[in-house]
Amino acid sequence: MIQIAVLGYGTVGSGVVEVLNRNQEVIDRRAGEEIRVKYVLDLRDFPGDPIQEKIVHDYNVIVNDPEIRVVVEVMGGVKPAYDFVKRALLAGKSVCTSNKELVAQHGVELLDIAMKQKVNFLFEASCGGGIPIIRPMVTSLSGDVIDEISGILNGTTNYILSEMAAEGAEFDVVLKEAQQRGYAERNPASDVEGYDACRKIAILSSLAYGRNVDFQDIHTEGITKISSADIKYANAWGASIKLLATSRVVDGKVYAMVSPIMLDANDPLYSVNGVFNAIFVHGDMLGDAMFYGQGAGKLPTATAVVGDVVEAVRHPHDGDMMGWSSEKLELADYKELKFRFFVRMKGSFTESLDKVEAVFGNIDAKVLAQVSGEFGFITEKMTEAQYLEKAARFDNILGMIRVRF
Ligand code: HSE
Repeated sequence: MIQIAVLGYGTVGSGVVEVLNRNQEVIDRRAGEEIRVKYVLDLRDFPGDPIQEKIVHDYNVIVNDPEIRVVVEVMGGVKPAYDFVKRALLAGKSVCTSNKELVAQHGVELLDIAMKQKVNFLFEASCGGGIPIIRPMVTSLSGDVIDEISGILNGTTNYILSEMAAEGAEFDVVLKEAQQRGYAERNPASDVEGYDACRKIAILSSLAYGRNVDFQDIHTEGITKISSADIKYANAWGASIKLLATSRVVDGKVYAMVSPIMLDANDPLYSVNGVFNAIFVHGDMLGDAMFYGQGAGKLPTATAVVGDVVEAVRHPHDGDMMGWSSEKLELADYKELKFRFFVRMKGSFTESLDKVEAVFGNIDAKVLAQVSGEFGFITEKMTEAQYLEKAARFDNILGMIRVRF
């Protein structure tokens, strides 16, 4: 029998216990061992709940117990998770985590410790929740050179943008509704400012390109400035607006960015709506592939963690770096990337057209009756540096969104 401990009995932690209980027979068969939860670490008590007999408040009980072979870290945040995970690995226990902050910040160091200790550090649930993406990328695609990963990696923002499109409502209104329905955190900054997606694309890029991508180097914009007017223009072009986390290799340089992007119906990510996530991967041999599913939520995230536990039980001494070296990957300047740009401009279209065309060249413009006192246009493809230089010649630009069609 393999005894494990779960750190944190919140949404994901209680999900891990539920998955292990409900699917016990099949999980034990696949692991080739009985997997049982011996301890659950939480600050709280759960009187009347069967979990109470496993609750401990002192991490030392877990880390000092030689019977514990796998530690599941689902507390979130870096403190004290980093300390707990490091101590578990140093004590010769495998760790499975869903914690993207921890993996983005300390992943390479923790993988190194796991490798030296000949145990596993696994984090399938940290990117895309229940969607299998990390193991497919580091194992099934090991014969491929990956040159693009683009994903809708945050369910909260995708839900908000989908609702804004469906209801024509403003960001603040939909955010409040999402919070009331439990789809958005009370402090939503990490989702709506793009930080969560940024950490996830940093992890996926480090694994895909084999060098360490510092999430702090990734240009990140959230969705707080997207308005119902932007959505109306997007509709008029037959497009949708998504928060896209993307990393691409162009002429040997790696670019990474998180920002709202306009996609049209030809894009495989166009119809990914609600809390769903999708990750598009391009490999030199594979071509295009897309991984789609529930990127958050109790049971989808928990099943990814349990999959890692089974993996750690089946291959207990397989600690490796998953191709993620500590060498820093220097990202190229995102302003070198080429896009078309959707621009909203205040004023009269007819009076502004000559100057707009003189500066931007050919444009595709729309004047929408529902959005008065302004017009919108999409430029031809250019680098962001070129766009910024042209945009600086106007003082009436209301907003810009990058376009992927
Ligand atoms: N807040 C995250 C999301 C949870 O909305 O996608 C999963 O990482």
